Amino acid sequence: MVAENAVLIKQGAEARVFHLPTFLTQPEGCIAKERFKKSYRHPDLDQYLTSRRVAQEARSLYKCKKAGMDTPTVYFIDMVSATIYMENIVGETVKQRLLTHQETEYVDVDTDTMAKRIGVSLAKMHSLNVIHGDLTTSNLMLRKEGDSVVVIDFGLSFVSSLIEDKAVDLYVLERAFSSTHPKTEPLFAKVLEHYLSASSQAKLIFSKLEDGIKNDNVRLRGRKRSMVG
Ligand SMILES: Nc1ncnc2c1ncn2[C@@H]1O[C@H](COP(=O)(O)OP(=O)(O)O)[C@@H](O)[C@H]1O
Ligand SMILES: [Mg+2]
Repeated sequence: MVAENAVLIKQGAEARVFHLPTFLTQPEGCIAKERFKKSYRHPDLDQYLTSRRVAQEARSLYKCKKAGMDTPTVYFIDMVSATIYMENIVGETVKQRLLTHQETEYVDVDTDTMAKRIGVSLAKMHSLNVIHGDLTTSNLMLRKEGDSVVVIDFGLSFVSSLIEDKAVDLYVLERAFSSTHPKTEPLFAKVLEHYLSASSQAKLIFSKLEDGIKNDNVRLRGRKRSMVG
């Protein structure tokens, strides 16, 4: 239990996410993401994997933030309870926004701005050699104030300069869009356009993505990873 007045907002397979209405002087409180023990794993292995995930998540959040991306600010890390205390992003996920406007085929959504922010942000992240590992529309948030896209949930992230790893990241996101949000092909195409204009490696990454889709390499890896995550 992270605090008496904590409100559970998501119980996932690996972690519980709470909102703490009061935290220091933050008017919006904070978010506490606590990784819980997996009883089917050997305790030493569990401890090792959990600590590694927490450290990796905090490290990536910090690295991206420092480079100017919009990610939640990390306030405090408690390695004993495997909990990261971070900024509460007031707004909604890209998933929620798209689902709300699905019936009207997103006419009321500023998809140009959304696509631009996502593309530019992911290009920046990959230029830092940070691979997200679980790019879905629930791991991208929109602030209520302003139109910035906030990348969250770096629990499966890792550092790699490999073109293929970056291609897999984009492939996983493409699958997330196409499997959850009908008629978002033009939106995803715009995400790639903006990624292309913001990344010097984009052409290589896109050709890997194409190759992979043709011979199923990237496709398979994407599937494997999403099953793990
Ligand atoms: N910093 C944050 N601010 C506001 N909401 C958040 C924040 N972090 C997570 N959430 C909400 O909790 C959900 C789950 O968090 P996430 O880090 O993605 O955990 P999981 O690994 O369970 O997917 C997100 O989809 C989002 O709705
Ligand atoms: Mg998530």
